[in-house]
Amino acid sequence: MRILRTIAETRAAVAELRARGCTVGLVATMGALHEGHLSLVRAARSRCDAVIATIFVNPLQFGPNEDFSKYPRTFETDCAMLEREGVDLLFAPEPAEMYPPGTSTVVEVQGLQDRLDGQSRPGHFRGVATVVAKLFHIVGPNQAFFGQKDAAQVANLRRMVRDLNFPLELVVCPIVREPDGLAMSSRNRYLSPEDRRHALALRRALRAVEDRIAAGVRGAAPLIEAGLAVMAAEAGVRVEYFRIVDPDTLEDLPDVSRGALIVVAAWVGPARLIDNVLVESRN
Ligand code: PAF
Repeated sequence: MRILRTIAETRAAVAELRARGCTVGLVATMGALHEGHLSLVRAARSRCDAVIATIFVNPLQFGPNEDFSKYPRTFETDCAMLEREGVDLLFAPEPAEMYPPGTSTVVEVQGLQDRLDGQSRPGHFRGVATVVAKLFHIVGPNQAFFGQKDAAQVANLRRMVRDLNFPLELVVCPIVREPDGLAMSSRNRYLSPEDRRHALALRRALRAVEDRIAAGVRGAAPLIEAGLAVMAAEAGVRVEYFRIVDPDTLEDLPDVSRGALIVVAAWVGPARLIDNVLVESRN
């Protein structure tokens, strides 16, 4: 696996792959890799001739009081994991390479960027859209792989790809969970053993909603109430949102009969955790 630090080197390396007729898959990450990221790499491996991963803790998507400086940085281990998965190229730039002094252009997905996590993390999705647009321009992948765990990020990026006519396919891969059901996240490293137990409330709450849907409940209000009741029963969990929304617009839905995204965000100890489940349309 070649490690590339500059945009110029990365463009040249991708051009070589293209000259050999390879299709290119992109897996963008902020490092601190886990099985969720590796599932994206494996999906890219199975669908594209060459895989390029990126590791860049993007300062633009962190708010002033967020965890940018203490976000886990595990570069050596990450490299070993990516190498084992057969990644061809790793682009790992410094912030000054991505945002040289004087940088003033950003990408905004207006409306969508302020919903769900965008509400409590103002500017977060502007940061995500901007860095991902830059990575798309630098790499020019045929396919780009993202995890369903970040459902609001997926909605923002899908809209950006459509609105800005990026010539690529956005591939969304299922949530990868720990054996006990906790959705994998780089931020799970912040959890103490006790927090870790409390954190299972997110999955349990989503399960409670799924069970009620299976039993015939369709209205958003009773479903949300059921989810919130599970969360409230767990000390040490502070709910930020529990909503039932349209997966593309992230707007609240009155019921789940035409399909829905059930999303939860909560603080557990020092970590802000998110999880979700996609419900298919049913009558
Ligand atoms: O999902 C992430 O890890 C980040 O938001 C991304 C897409 C790599 C952009 O920095």
